[in-house]
Amino acid sequence: MKYKGLSIFNANDALDRVQLPYSELRLLAADGGVEVMVQELKAGSTFDVYPKKDRSVLIEFFYVLEGELEFTGYEENQKIHSGDYIYVKDIDHTCTFNVNINSKVLFVSPQPIFHYIGEVISTLHQINQEIDEKDKYTLNHCERVQNLAVKIALEMNIDRGKLSGLAVGALFHDLGMISIDDDILVKADKLTREELAEMKKHPIHSAKYVKKIKYIDASGIVIQHHEKYNGTGYPKGLKEEEILLEARIISVADAYDAMTNDRPFRKAITQQEAVNEILKYSGTWYDPIVVNAFVQVLKKDKII
Ligand SMILES: [Fe+2]
Ligand SMILES: [Fe+2]
Repeated sequence: MKYKGLSIFNANDALDRVQLPYSELRLLAADGGVEVMVQELKAGSTFDVYPKKDRSVLIEFFYVLEGELEFTGYEENQKIHSGDYIYVKDIDHTCTFNVNINSKVLFVSPQPIFHYIGEVISTLHQINQEIDEKDKYTLNHCERVQNLAVKIALEMNIDRGKLSGLAVGALFHDLGMISIDDDILVKADKLTREELAEMKKHPIHSAKYVKKIKYIDASGIVIQHHEKYNGTGYPKGLKEEEILLEARIISVADAYDAMTNDRPFRKAITQQEAVNEILKYSGTWYDPIVVNAFVQVLKKDKII
């Protein structure tokens, strides 16, 4: 093909979109962790820019395509018209812009953020919440695992293009628990062999849900989150580099979070005990390079 790699889209095309009460957000392009979005805002609404938890991110960039916004944070209000643009880096407060007339803003984020709000994703969030209602551990567990996994990945300086898959994979790794029988899910006693076999199918179920997100392929990551470095994990018994790096990272974050929180069948252990446990299995269950980065992250966060 003469113009290989060239894609032309129509005005209303999008990889994903989300309808919010006073605006529509469309994801136009996503690659290498960078996302390009367009947001249509209704007059009378506000447009907020939030500080990022991770300050190492590059700038975010907003270009007003149509309309008029007004920033009221300075002593004198400042109007932003079509053609004007906004840079955001290292803000420590949420910045609010009033939308004076119907407006359209093009938005470039160097970090994947759309998955927090995308429509397909919000359905998956709902499933996470449903599981949480059954088993008061999953929802926060997944968010904590996501948080830690991304920190480990940044510490390891992994390819930025892998970050969105990792973040989404971590957030939805246990989504397949929804397909597991309630009695098994919250059983306080040891599971029978059959129940255990059922439980071990959850990564496969999770992957099926995650596959619905068209613009981020995290299903391969999700399905591997219980694989072990020496090949003794499930569902496939993959080992070392056969397991995707993102899955090796999630596996450490997942184990740490599971050990440091109460489960129906056992009590939490301390953070230091959990670290010792992970170090003990570094190179057998866990990728030693990931374990090193994990220890660095906890040291930086003054947890150990
Ligand atoms: Fe799991
Ligand atoms: Fe988990």
